[in-house]
Amino acid sequence: MKIETTNHSASKRIKLIKIKEQELDKLIFSFNKHNITSLEYKPFSRFSLAKSVDDVFSGELSKVLNTILKDRNTGTVVIQPDIKNSKFDKDFLAKLSTALAYLVGLPNFDSMSEKYYARFHVNHSDSSDSYLRKAYINMDLHTDGTYVKEKTDWLLMTKMEEINVKGGESVLLHLDDWEHCEEFSSNPVGKQNFAWGSPKSKNVDYKVEHPVFFKDEEGKPTISYIDQFPEPKNMEQGLFLQRLSDALEESKNKIVLPLSPGSTIFLNNYFWLHGRRPFKKDVNLSRELLRIRGVFFLSI
Ligand SMILES: [Fe+2]
Repeated sequence: MKIETTNHSASKRIKLIKIKEQELDKLIFSFNKHNITSLEYKPFSRFSLAKSVDDVFSGELSKVLNTILKDRNTGTVVIQPDIKNSKFDKDFLAKLSTALAYLVGLPNFDSMSEKYYARFHVNHSDSSDSYLRKAYINMDLHTDGTYVKEKTDWLLMTKMEEINVKGGESVLLHLDDWEHCEEFSSNPVGKQNFAWGSPKSKNVDYKVEHPVFFKDEEGKPTISYIDQFPEPKNMEQGLFLQRLSDALEESKNKIVLPLSPGSTIFLNNYFWLHGRRPFKKDVNLSRELLRIRGVFFLSI
């Protein structure tokens, strides 16, 4: 089968891969050879799952994903499987997400879930200590992995299920589309080391130090930033972060991306920022998400 890639209607920087029902049917056989527990316990089984998915697409899927994710002009792909039929359940989506991740690289250990992936709900009420599960508060633009030692090259988010959901759209911003990129990335404060910690629920018991802005091999700016976790050491750093936060949120070039249940956003974590709009209030609101974050294979 051939992979068809189109531009997403929201932006030509975002590619869209639709997987039809008859194509999903061809994945069922290889998916049935694995269950979620064996995928969790045996890392090699995730590679064979991914290979079997790539084989269904004549080896093209891994090439297409790697090309999009590493291309500075794109860097984001939405994978939209046609899952209207109930045989494509949440286990199916977890396996598809695993396969997609292992076609480009290795997931980092997710301390929050203590697995290679994390599944979590956003509901009406929440008593947690971060913005991740606060449904009615805007989740500001950020990158992932700011407070861990591991590199986070890419991020994959799959919408597993949605009930009584209005609002809560994904918001994305490509660094090269941000009006203030040059101003902030060349500011000496942005190159200083900041201290980054995290709240208890993240299960990370250390702090790291790194700047907000880096340069890639071609000298282009990259960003590692989230509003909640940097711990400014002085007035200069505190005010820089406030101005940075305001300048990101005020950008006119943010992309608002509704995402149908079952779909995956797969993005480069160095030059794409992501966030979420608030949900409309509903006591029965429920969204389940799966995320995997990781690094690219070195050999590709
Ligand atoms: Fe995030």
